[in-house]
Amino acid sequence: MPFMTSEEILQRYIRFYVKRGHAIIPNISLVPENDPSLLFVNSGMFPLVPYLSGEPHPLGNRLVSIQRAVRFFDLEEVGDNRHTTVFHMIGNWSLGDYFKQEQLPWIYEFFIEELGLDPYRLFATVFEGDKDSPRDTESITIIKKVFKKYGIEARENERIFAYGKDGNWWQRGDAIGELGGTDSEIFYYIGKVGQEKGKNPKDNEDDFLEIGNSVFLQFKRIKDGWEELSQKNVDFGGGFERIAMVIQNKNDIFETDNFWPLIQRIQDASGIRYLESKKVTTSMRVLADHIRAATFLAMDGVIASNKDQGYVLRRYLRRIVRFGRNLKITHDVSVQLVQTVADMFSWMYSGLPAQVASIQKMFALEEAKFATVLDQSEKQLQKMFQDGNIPKDEITASQIAFDLYQSIGTPPEMTQEFFQEQNVLSTAQVKKFHVLYDEKIKEHQTLSRKGAEAKFKGGLADHSEQVVQYHTTTHLLHEALRRTLGTHVQQYGSNITKDRLRFDFSHTDKLTDKQLLQTEQLINTTIAQVLPVQFVMMPKEKAEKSGALHFFKEKYTDTVKVYFIGNDIDHAFSKEFCGGPHISNLSELPPKLHIYKQESVGKGIRRIYARFE
Ligand code: ALA
Repeated sequence: MPFMTSEEILQRYIRFYVKRGHAIIPNISLVPENDPSLLFVNSGMFPLVPYLSGEPHPLGNRLVSIQRAVRFFDLEEVGDNRHTTVFHMIGNWSLGDYFKQEQLPWIYEFFIEELGLDPYRLFATVFEGDKDSPRDTESITIIKKVFKKYGIEARENERIFAYGKDGNWWQRGDAIGELGGTDSEIFYYIGKVGQEKGKNPKDNEDDFLEIGNSVFLQFKRIKDGWEELSQKNVDFGGGFERIAMVIQNKNDIFETDNFWPLIQRIQDASGIRYLESKKVTTSMRVLADHIRAATFLAMDGVIASNKDQGYVLRRYLRRIVRFGRNLKITHDVSVQLVQTVADMFSWMYSGLPAQVASIQKMFALEEAKFATVLDQSEKQLQKMFQDGNIPKDEITASQIAFDLYQSIGTPPEMTQEFFQEQNVLSTAQVKKFHVLYDEKIKEHQTLSRKGAEAKFKGGLADHSEQVVQYHTTTHLLHEALRRTLGTHVQQYGSNITKDRLRFDFSHTDKLTDKQLLQTEQLINTTIAQVLPVQFVMMPKEKAEKSGALHFFKEKYTDTVKVYFIGNDIDHAFSKEFCGGPHISNLSELPPKLHIYKQESVGKGIRRIYARFE
């Protein structure tokens, strides 16, 4: 088969599912709106949670997409031939429509007939059964039939393997209300043909690559287990870059067209060849992964800072600088690579090339700041050695690392590597050093950092009562601000926790006390009217003409859902394009909202914070 680009793989996937009645949903920003417990979109199903629980989707009940996603917690795993922290997931969904009988034959047909994968190299896993759900014999029967079509007898424990919740169950988080279900994964055997006998995919990770997962989402988390949903959903997710790896016949994800131009650029900048040594290979892979992540985050409006998403971007950029130094690239590492990312992905993100210059400007600033930190750290460490202050064990070493971090921001890995080079720390002591260092850091973490970290670990959606209440309240606030300040007010962003809402909007001047009071009063008198909150679905153009507000940064589908607050849409207090979920009547809100803080976030955007008293 001739070389197939990633772009063509995607075209084929979308075409395949559109032919089978699926509507295309957009590839949304990595920064979630209205979901306080997740820092980043981490799977294709992210925007679909309300619809998987039963809300009607404006585009129908068969959907397909490609979605960018960040799984920041895989950071330390980057360096091998397949792990990345930013990736794309191709996905198709049935919202209570088709189920296993269609999903499994289709996805194998796509891989084998549409992309040309050798069926002999494909292996399947299914759920083995437990108290929540029985053994998935239905999937086993279907998969056997699928393989038979290609002349292969798929036996259990040979081509189809069953695992429990640790292997074949998917859920996005543990919170009550989360959705979950059994799943069936597809693995591609990348080992030598003839040596696959007796190997199962989960215990032989080097030989098998997971390329897709069909989740049969049909349960909802309750206090003591799982309850059946009213509808049975399919949530398929496929690792786009990994699929490219097998289609393009590579043993290394970084040799696919999703990364290779970056590796080439890094080779040119450093004069060092990829795969020259383990350190070189790891460093180049880290750079290629991180620059994609940093560029996509910046594309989605993230600015390097000390908090939340901004802090993650800062960590990416700092790691880029450190790993760049491993390759003797000491200046503008990220700056040089942004253009390559834009060139590679302009087919997917047409707006990216126009953002290159401003992204480079931000990255250059961050790099310069961090380069100063590194230079100062190097000097301090050298001086310490010259003065004979050499740590005797990992306890003292970790204390020095901590002090350096506190005073000038030295990354602990840098201190560790320095001590190792000076033979103060042995490889065996490194782990202990980091454990001790982490303990010290934990003791000193500020509250805000703790909050951010809880979110990194979270992975939970929080559609709790308060979050839904505040989400509806942003609609009231948006309209109230327009009535008080003028119709130039447009929503720019929002962020909700269970304790407060934050709302960004276009407006230059500080709000006067009178304006704040008027806005609050308008909201609170509207709440007192106990109006219903309802939605209709309509073509985008008609919705725009009706004057429904929308989020101007967002791309919408052709049919949109418009939420309105009032008895009928023509006399509603507020009308907005929105996916929901919302409360169904203002009587579900506490009576009194208070705006307790306002600030400018620059460029004519103001931010206000409000909570119920
Ligand atoms: N939502 C499933 C996953 O992320 C498909 O693996």
